[in-house]
Amino acid sequence: MKIAFISDVHIGPSGLYKGVRRKLTEYSELYIYNFVKRLSNDYEFAIHLGDLIQDDERKADLANYKNGLELFNKSPIPMHQLIGNHDCINIKQKELEGFIKQMPLYYSFDASDYHFIILYTQVYKAEKSKINEEQKAWLIADLAATNKPTVVFSHHSLADQNLFGNPWFEGWEEACLLENRREIRQVLFESQKVIAVVNGHLHWNNVTHHDAIPYITVQSAIENYNDDGESANAWGTIEIKDGKFNLIVHGNDPFNYDYEFL
Ligand SMILES: [Fe+2]
Repeated sequence: MKIAFISDVHIGPSGLYKGVRRKLTEYSELYIYNFVKRLSNDYEFAIHLGDLIQDDERKADLANYKNGLELFNKSPIPMHQLIGNHDCINIKQKELEGFIKQMPLYYSFDASDYHFIILYTQVYKAEKSKINEEQKAWLIADLAATNKPTVVFSHHSLADQNLFGNPWFEGWEEACLLENRREIRQVLFESQKVIAVVNGHLHWNNVTHHDAIPYITVQSAIENYNDDGESANAWGTIEIKDGKFNLIVHGNDPFNYDYEFL
């Protein structure tokens, strides 16, 4: 079975970070359009890993969020939206639940012979995200109730990955990684069902292993990945077949991760 993903499309203002224009948001809508155009029944579903918008002021954020959703909703296959930290600065959680018609924002489903979990890495104060007790209890019960190999998606990373060289987050580990990641990783490990965990947010490609589970971060669609004004144009596919898991990031900053989980 195959899945298509894209991450951190950030419709909105570009701005500068440490003097560099990193988010090439002039491509945001085009890349959503191109992503949706590629989708077909070859894929079981598609997913955007969060940060649909680059926050600005409330009115602009609402317009950008709705515009982005409209573009994604042209998908011919089921399309899942994660909530990123930039999505919820000026838009309330209740409003986001309404826009994406998903309450609560964490849930799970089966596709083909596999189980998929969408986590909601809730931003509870500036730069701090966690999975609350209610969601953690749900996660434990949800994993206990499935007998299928499971893939988990989140916006923030649950891995203690080395951020040396990351243009956004080097030195800011505690601000960008999920606060209670160790505790949640323990839940995933103890279930003995999770074959991979995939997230966005960090605007690069990375795989870090914990307890033999790959925690994979994928590149943002619009990141100025070479510091020279070229966008990553990243989107990807996950294929799971006969005990093999393969994740590919396509575009200008390609990445390929293969492993056998059986
Ligand atoms: Fe983010």
